[in-house]
Amino acid sequence: MRIYLGADHAGFQLKEHVRETLRASGHEVVDVGTNAEDSVDYPDYAREVALAVGSGEADLGVLVCGTGFGMAIAANKFPGVRAVPLSDPEMARMARRHNNANVITLAGRYLEPAQADAVLEAFLTTEYENGRHQRRIDKITGFEDCQA
Ligand code: RB5
Repeated sequence: MRIYLGADHAGFQLKEHVRETLRASGHEVVDVGTNAEDSVDYPDYAREVALAVGSGEADLGVLVCGTGFGMAIAANKFPGVRAVPLSDPEMARMARRHNNANVITLAGRYLEPAQADAVLEAFLTTEYENGRHQRRIDKITGFEDCQA
């Protein structure tokens, strides 16, 4: 998979770990930064990763901030993005099976590296179930054109 990866200062350390985990599993990783613990704004990194996922340039996005929440809120503003904050492997499997999630957001201030690895492993080894779930996702995609 081609995976775009980004973080703010609160996610920087975990991002560094996640990048090596993903590369060791054979994935192509594009790391968009940040590359230090100096304070930055997480929407800037969410934007870059979300645009790559929405355009098809990336198969998957991974974003890390302090909680994973701000990254998810920001990424979900972009067309074609289904971002979910994950901290639990079973929830990661459900996000794939039912929601066809294409961006994972992680909590750099709350997740141990091994927990993040477990979430990624669960997500990456689970298939989208399609079927009735696609009808629901199509409805969500329709909201992208909603003016009301
Ligand atoms: C940065 O202090 C923090 O607000 C950010 O990393 C993230 O947790 C936002 O949701």
